Amino acid sequence: MSSRSASIAAEHLRLSVAPMMDWTDTHCRNFHRLLAPHARLYTEMVHANAVIHGTADEKGREKLLGKDDSQHPVALQLGGSDPHLLAKAARIGADHGFDEINLNCGCPSDRVQAGRFGACLMREPTLVADCVAAMIEAAPDTPITVKCRLGVDDDHEWDRFRAFVDAIADAGCNLFVVHARNAWLKGLSPKENREVPPLRYDWAYRLKRERPDLQVIVNGGIADAEEATAHLDYTDGAMLGRAAYHDPYLLHRLDIRWFGGETRSRADLLRAWKPYVEGQLARGVYLKHMARHILGLFHGERGGRAFRQILSEGAHRPGADWSLVEQALAATAMHDFVFCPPAA
Ligand SMILES: Cc1cc2nc3c(=O)[nH]c(=O)nc-3n(C[C@H](O)[C@H](O)[C@H](O)COP(=O)(O)O)c2cc1C
Repeated sequence: MSSRSASIAAEHLRLSVAPMMDWTDTHCRNFHRLLAPHARLYTEMVHANAVIHGTADEKGREKLLGKDDSQHPVALQLGGSDPHLLAKAARIGADHGFDEINLNCGCPSDRVQAGRFGACLMREPTLVADCVAAMIEAAPDTPITVKCRLGVDDDHEWDRFRAFVDAIADAGCNLFVVHARNAWLKGLSPKENREVPPLRYDWAYRLKRERPDLQVIVNGGIADAEEATAHLDYTDGAMLGRAAYHDPYLLHRLDIRWFGGETRSRADLLRAWKPYVEGQLARGVYLKHMARHILGLFHGERGGRAFRQILSEGAHRPGADWSLVEQALAATAMHDFVFCPPAA
């Protein structure tokens, strides 16, 4: 039995935003933090090798591990399956101030399978246990956690899933984020693998019932505040991915509902982002890299389409700045606004 991972206080687990490659970059996390002060945020998956070899200089560190102080609590998600490399990468992540290091055991992409990590690790509990034990030893003060599926392909035996969790819990891991469906390793794209294999939340609930000593966060297909709230009766937290990204105001509603505080309007929250955006623009970051994360802010609202259109058409233009965001906000106040993009 190895030493146990550092743990995470229960109130910091209720709400989290899923790791999403190409989406949950540092700008996105900064924006989500404004909306949901209590949410736990996750980076995109970074391979352990990239963390070790790509962070020797400032530019690499910024690209792979960049974050600002406002983002805490924020978890670094690692990909990999070599205990030695993962331990090194976990130590680097801990030294960079990440509040948690999470190991990806759920990604089904071909590239990831070829590298023998991600979802195919569901079939290698002993290896995952070795990885987790090495990460805990290397970063004893930082919680080491696992995000997994229920199984791969046609694994449908509860005992197999339970044995996977038990082996990794024995290695010291206290927290499992369960994307509550199988990954099908042949014949489905990663996108289809988030939609086609059926969701089975009851397995996440059963895991929490049978192992109340573990912290279990349920993930997958959570679409709205009612559904998210219902999961809290059975698990320690709900992790939202696509719904949070496409309708970020949902994060604000959940944060207020679960933790209290005053509801703020979308425009108010967005204007609170202005200093960050202007700071980044001054550093040479293009507006388009930030604006893409806010396109869904007025999802389902009057003027939401115009808001999205103004930003997606204007943010890539040279010199685009905060005034474009104000223009988009103005459109949400106008019922019959028609956007005519300027001639290129
Ligand atoms: C664009 C995109 C990228 C993703 N990248 C990752 C990733 O890097 N690591 C990971 O564990 N899961 C990744 N996922 C899966 C999500 O974390 C989550 O498990 C999945 O989307 C199901 O949750 P949802 O239905 O709330 O979106 C990604 C999902 C999307 C949509």
